Amino acid sequence: MNMHSSNAATAEEAIAAQEALPPLTNEEATKVAMSNTLLTPRFYTTDFEEMDAIDVTPVRKDWDKLIGQMKADPNKGHFRKNEDWDTVDWDGMEPKLKAEFIDFLISSCTAEFSGCVLYKEMKRRGSNEDITTLFQLMARDEARHAGFINDALREAGIAVNLGFLTQAKKYTYFRPKFIYYATYLSEKIGYARYITIFRHLEEHPEMRFHPIFKWFREWCNDEFSHGEAFALLLKTDPKLTQSWANRMWIKFFLTAVFSTMWVRDHQRPEFHKALGVDPEWYGQEVFRKTSDISRQVFPMVLDIDHPRWKPTLRRMEAANVQIAKGRKQGGVGGWVKRMAGSATAGFAFLSLMTIPVEKNAVPDSPRLEPAY
Ligand SMILES: [Fe+2]
Ligand SMILES: [Fe+2]
Repeated sequence: MNMHSSNAATAEEAIAAQEALPPLTNEEATKVAMSNTLLTPRFYTTDFEEMDAIDVTPVRKDWDKLIGQMKADPNKGHFRKNEDWDTVDWDGMEPKLKAEFIDFLISSCTAEFSGCVLYKEMKRRGSNEDITTLFQLMARDEARHAGFINDALREAGIAVNLGFLTQAKKYTYFRPKFIYYATYLSEKIGYARYITIFRHLEEHPEMRFHPIFKWFREWCNDEFSHGEAFALLLKTDPKLTQSWANRMWIKFFLTAVFSTMWVRDHQRPEFHKALGVDPEWYGQEVFRKTSDISRQVFPMVLDIDHPRWKPTLRRMEAANVQIAKGRKQGGVGGWVKRMAGSATAGFAFLSLMTIPVEKNAVPDSPRLEPAY
């Protein structure tokens, strides 16, 4: 039998295993994965030379321990269908739910794969053994995750063409420090998202309308250790989290990542209804966990209980609905709607940025273990 992406030792092997599967009509899914808006997952590129020059000596002890855990590879072979995988009744699924769920899977697959291409490229370009070892391990995990979501999509007769995506999707350039902030946060928020759904479905197994959610615990542990790696990278240089300008950037990224998640999740009402999850509750719960974890390295947390927080996010979400309507409508009327919506969303973002933060005293050693 051919190798499956779940057993692959490298990202390259995992991608090749996915590509060796019988081809499917990919165009629709790949088109969705290709789109680049503020709300869809992007692919990133950076100054790989600068990243390769990082010296992990200040965090050596924690670093070696983390790399040791990742090399031990506890999740090898995990991300594949087995006897726990229940049959999915795609044809019997309520059409709106089906559409939203497929959209969720495609967007998750793209996000996982976005991590994979960035990490794989760092591994390929680098010569610093600490850095290339870490990035090859993380690329391996993300390729397995993306491969597993693609396996789930295949049952619905679709798949994202990962090879094509690597070649054809637009890459956004981010300076290394922005990659650290954004990727650290996206790994930790990914952990918080997966574990919150997993714990909710443990209590309400009758709401588990698809078997993939059973895999979320081990999955989020991978994301957790990726986040740990970025926490250590951020610790190698105190300036990254202490200078005034960088503290502003951290606040910016926290606000951007949280508000994007809020708006994006509200686009999938049927999906959340089927899971029995209120998107506002889910959002706040995920923000709370992410904030608590991020105390390991960020000198501040956002005040998500501030009286302006939720109302402003709601305004931003309404503006986003208006932008989408304008885009659909087209013409001058549509353009006006879109511009008005963008202005509202922009002001809402500024308003969130002016909410005072809660200062946080960062511990000397950032290392944490998954606790939720
Ligand atoms: Fe992942
Ligand atoms: Fe990850």
